Amino acid sequence: MRGDECIRFLQWALPQLRLRWPGFRKVRGQVCKRISRRMAELSIDEISDYRDYLGAHQDEWAVLDKLCQVTISRFYRDRPVCRFLAREVLPDLARQVLQQGADYLRVWSVGCGSGEEPFTISLIWRLQVHSQFPGLSLRLVATDANPVMRQHVTDACYAYSSVKDLPADWRDTAFCRDARRYCLKPEFRDGIEFMQQDVRQLNPAETFDLVLCRNLVFTYFEEDLQRSILDRMRAALKPGGALIIGIHERLPEGVVGFSEWSARLRVYRKSG
Ligand SMILES: C[S@@+](CC[C@H](N)C(=O)[O-])C[C@H]1O[C@@H](n2cnc3c(N)ncnc32)[C@H](O)[C@@H]1O
Repeated sequence: MRGDECIRFLQWALPQLRLRWPGFRKVRGQVCKRISRRMAELSIDEISDYRDYLGAHQDEWAVLDKLCQVTISRFYRDRPVCRFLAREVLPDLARQVLQQGADYLRVWSVGCGSGEEPFTISLIWRLQVHSQFPGLSLRLVATDANPVMRQHVTDACYAYSSVKDLPADWRDTAFCRDARRYCLKPEFRDGIEFMQQDVRQLNPAETFDLVLCRNLVFTYFEEDLQRSILDRMRAALKPGGALIIGIHERLPEGVVGFSEWSARLRVYRKSG
């Protein structure tokens, strides 16, 4: 399939999945390759025939939806955000939790990839923040629609490209190395629950001090869907809780119920 054919196909198909084309512009290569592979499985040569196939087989839309789930992630993604989390967000939320008389901080990582994001929070907490709040523990719920992501998390071993942004001494402290991979030590995996969950349909049945929803909803989903998920995320946040979205994302126009904690880093706080 030619690149321009794939673009035209995506511009036609994505809105029907409540996804938005601009979010896919940069990552279309990954998605187009998957669609080509799927067409080969079905012995379909032309993209127009795959369109017809979608017309005749309603179940195929769910397959296409999965092919459109972009899985790129890495540890310590967006260093300034990670530093802000360590310096300001986690200590502030920890103080709030202590004032409320609780003994743990609850975090939800939405679209958690292969664990890179929740494990990064665990590393920041354990290596930089916890010593200031020894009586407090961190509990993380990490959700992702893709079951393969969850399987990957059980061994928690990664290629160098996934951990290269981490401070070098963190890599030495937190990972065991074999010839090819960096495997996260078990003590940094404690307190994290991974669940297969589609954020369009479900969220964990509890409330959180911090929600991370980065490089998913506000990049790939259409605006109405963004708004309805944002409503649910707001309801899942405790008063004064924080929401962090991707550094290149923005909240839909006119959203209420959040104040800016750092506009530049896309960190918000539940208000009102
Ligand atoms: C681009 S990655 C971002 C990972 C991480 N949040 C980050 O910023 O590095 C998007 C992740 O969201 C997951 N995902 C895609 N659609 C989803 C959905 N509807 N519900 C939950 N997770 C989804 C993908 O499997 C993938 O792991």
